[in-house]
Amino acid sequence: MTQQTWRTAWAPGRVNLIGEHTDYQDGWCLPIAIGRGTTVKFRPSQDAISVITSDRFHEVVRVNTDTVSRAQIRGADSAAAYETGWGSSVVSLIAALRERGHEIAAIEAHVHSDVPLGSGLSSSASFMVALAMAFTDAADSPTSQLHGVELAHTAQRGEHINGVPCGIMDQMASVFGQEHNAVLIDCRSATTQLIPVPDSLGVVVIHSGLPRTLADSQYAQRRIACAAACERLGISALRDANLDEVADDPFARHVVTENRRVLTFVAALRANDPSALGSILNESHRSLADDFMVSTPELDTLCSLLNDAGAYGARLTGAGFGGCVVALADIEGAQVIADEAARRYQQLTKLQPLHFITAAAAGARFLANRE
Ligand code: GLA
Repeated sequence: MTQQTWRTAWAPGRVNLIGEHTDYQDGWCLPIAIGRGTTVKFRPSQDAISVITSDRFHEVVRVNTDTVSRAQIRGADSAAAYETGWGSSVVSLIAALRERGHEIAAIEAHVHSDVPLGSGLSSSASFMVALAMAFTDAADSPTSQLHGVELAHTAQRGEHINGVPCGIMDQMASVFGQEHNAVLIDCRSATTQLIPVPDSLGVVVIHSGLPRTLADSQYAQRRIACAAACERLGISALRDANLDEVADDPFARHVVTENRRVLTFVAALRANDPSALGSILNESHRSLADDFMVSTPELDTLCSLLNDAGAYGARLTGAGFGGCVVALADIEGAQVIADEAARRYQQLTKLQPLHFITAAAAGARFLANRE
């Protein structure tokens, strides 16, 4: 790459169809990548200083790409050193890239995203994946390009260094997404299988208007509760528990039943059985609300309204505590159903929902200049 050539890395957000709070317990999940994502337009810097701007945050991030290390993150380059927090995610990602031994080069870059922030649609994972592609591509060596599972793991490591204790689903969905397919992720082996989504199904997404962030939500506490259940049972992950063993522990029970639902959902997709798919979505929501306790009255309301409006079924998607719900509906009726549910939700709650119909999209890639 010559010094002046601009390149564009793009990585999508995701909507998880089923398999919530299973990824950090070695379970299964079934997200789709969506057409919304993060674009990083970049070129190599003249020196070791990366200068990164964003449409979303006024703060310009300036960081010496050569000297960032994990130790430094706790010092001068810590989250506190940046006003907006997005600087600390850049620095954390650089630290992750260096920690995992990837060759990187300093970049001048501009970031643009059309994934709503804090919506549960993985705006952060799509940013980390696209930025990791940019830093490694800029190194311009035959071995520097980062892709596949290692790209997903590095982006996840960046989140962890930044204090966000996420699982691997979002990054894997962003990297491995395919048009017309959901991505069945086995989070124990970090392997994926593409599951075709019938074209007759519309995927409805409605954002409740309640923002959420993983770091300040109860996400970490749920992880701790699941780890405690594993310790009690003497197993390394709840994937290995059976229902009898967790009957009295609602958190663990959710994870065990949700893993089963993922596999039944995949069978219903293969059989093109939309009513079965809808029932499984509704069951998942009930389990997330009653057992795992990550829903809110607003998310419950949205799911009921979507069912009332004619969706096959609906559930909260992502970590919960706000953010979005996902529903499946006949493709012809999907927009009307989404409009109706959003209108009634607004009337009832006075919150401003964002709603759209989406479809499974392709995963992270470099865009040709005209794209
Ligand atoms: C967030 C995390 C994921 C996953 C979901 C819950 O999106 O980033 O890793 O744990 O919550 O399923």
